[in-house]
Amino acid sequence: MTDLSDRSTSTTSTLRRLWPHVRPHRARVLLVIFATLVAMLCGLAIPLVIREVVDGPIARGDTGSLPWLVLLVVVLGLAEAGLFYLRRKLIAAPSTAVEATMRAELYAHLQALPVSFHDRWQSGQLLSRATTDLNTVRRFVAFAAIFLVVNTAVLVIGLGVLFHLSALLGAVLLVTSLPLVAISYLFESKFKVVARTAQDQAGDLTTTVEESVLGIRVLKAFGRGPELARRFAAQAAELRATELHKARIFAALWAVLIVLPEMAVAGQLALGSFGIAQGTTSVGTLVAAITVSAYLRWPTDSIGWLLAETNQAAAATERYFEVIDEPTTVQNPAEPVPLATPVRGHVRFEGVRFSHPGSDDEVLRGVDLDVRPGETIALVGATGSGKTTLTALVPRLADVTAGRVTVDGVDVRDLDLADLRRVVGTAFEEPVLFSASVTENVALGAPGADEARVREALRIARAEEFVDALPWGLDTRIGEQGLSLSGGQRQRLALARAVVGRPAVLVLDDPLSALDVHTEAEVEAALRRVLHGVTALVVAHRPSTVQLADRVAMIVDGRIAAVGEHHHLLEHDEEYRRLLSSADGTAGTAGTAGTAGSAAQDEEVAAR
Ligand SMILES: Nc1ncnc2c1ncn2[C@@H]1O[C@H](COP(=O)(O)OP(=O)(O)OP(=O)(O)O)[C@@H](O)[C@H]1O
Ligand SMILES: [Mg+2]
Repeated sequence: MTDLSDRSTSTTSTLRRLWPHVRPHRARVLLVIFATLVAMLCGLAIPLVIREVVDGPIARGDTGSLPWLVLLVVVLGLAEAGLFYLRRKLIAAPSTAVEATMRAELYAHLQALPVSFHDRWQSGQLLSRATTDLNTVRRFVAFAAIFLVVNTAVLVIGLGVLFHLSALLGAVLLVTSLPLVAISYLFESKFKVVARTAQDQAGDLTTTVEESVLGIRVLKAFGRGPELARRFAAQAAELRATELHKARIFAALWAVLIVLPEMAVAGQLALGSFGIAQGTTSVGTLVAAITVSAYLRWPTDSIGWLLAETNQAAAATERYFEVIDEPTTVQNPAEPVPLATPVRGHVRFEGVRFSHPGSDDEVLRGVDLDVRPGETIALVGATGSGKTTLTALVPRLADVTAGRVTVDGVDVRDLDLADLRRVVGTAFEEPVLFSASVTENVALGAPGADEARVREALRIARAEEFVDALPWGLDTRIGEQGLSLSGGQRQRLALARAVVGRPAVLVLDDPLSALDVHTEAEVEAALRRVLHGVTALVVAHRPSTVQLADRVAMIVDGRIAAVGEHHHLLEHDEEYRRLLSSADGTAGTAGTAGTAGSAAQDEEVAAR
């Protein structure tokens, strides 16, 4: 928050960035500005007709021209109303279009951003940008931007008319208006800071709500509800304090905005009456001057409010572009290299290094690994050793910092992203299901997959049976707003999702982590079928999973410390033995070590 002073200079440059979105609608926006201006000018013309009435028919007692003058007022009034109607009607389409395209662009950008971006950004801040902030931008385009132009023009024209009526009366309004400009400027710089703070705090609040909804089970289980409610209340109070601050600044401005024009009327009345007494001013002129001044009240009053809206829009735009300006580090190559068909699925890691953006610690420090076509390699290693990180490099959820990952000899960064992700099927540690049917959830792995394909994938993943037992079978809604599935069921759906596209390469991060012994055996059987005939890199914790693999690679301190067959390593590698026996202890399955293994792992965890 140290750069707030820089912000005060950049309202216009920030808002200028909206132009590319408004540009396609510029003709219509111009038309709206024109219609609004003409409407306002119709209103401004009415006082001039009043002067004619007062100085003409009324002063001279000659009513001949009166009906025409009254008719003119009626016509001007109708025109004003009609044009304002048109304004609202015409601006709706472009302003909502700007909001919609910006929102779509934000969403697309979020999809393109690397996974590491989401490690750094709170989801609530993203949500509030996609909703509240874009709402503010729409309001600005539909209203504030237009009236800022129109009202300024009307003020200038109105002052001109006043000066034309009487230089003295015009000068009175001008003099009382000048402090307004200074005050508005002062207000702008203050209000901007508070507006931005309020929007950021609203984002934090959204994050708290979202996290507590997603984590409701944990929070309830640990009885943290009251604590969270207190935290929420504190955040809400903070936001309220900021809003009150905003209101106070606004109230001060408003008071000034009201006082000054009233002073102007008093001054015009005094000087105008004096002028009438002296015979230098006509009654009609004074009436018209005061009516014009009254008509200019709204353009004057609104300036403060419009500036506030403009500032909020600038803050919202800035928040929006903070996300848009995040570089998409994982990008499609300009000239993708096509993969030779049939894809053999030869995956190689060559001197791969990786550190998280903004972190000096290298998670991977020179990994060399050759996964031959059709081979299954189990990746084992202590928790936090970099297994998940390594697997994420194959489908390019992140890019290597140095070295390269190749598929059939082509650097994955040279492949078309869509191609790469078709070739590589993935399942993650935490199987995420979306609020959609079973079919849709599985078909996510291969867009357009038909029911037969989905069924085949379910069969391979040994999920067909339980899916058929669901109330609506394949059409059952699962995920957040649907039926809750057990951990093992979710993992099997995630497996089905990974294989539905018949990928040549499978990357499975701990696919059996959530299973009991019985289901484990079942999913292992499924896995055995899944792994048949594809190249696979499987993160494994248990000896039983490891045994599915042709070879095992052990990762220690970000390097491959050993590669070989399970039995060979078990016999010859002390570290491997320790690692697997401890993993087995937690799993509680029959294995080489019992409780001792569990103690060993506890120690290891404690040591971290
Ligand atoms: N966004 C991040 N920024 C910095 N470090 C990170 C980030 N994400 C993960 N790490 C670190 O990278 C290291 C490797 O994490 P990784 O998830 O690859 O481990 P893992 O071997 O999969 O562990 P587990 O067996 O528990 O799943 C860990 O020390 C972790 O703390
Ligand atoms: Mg992991």
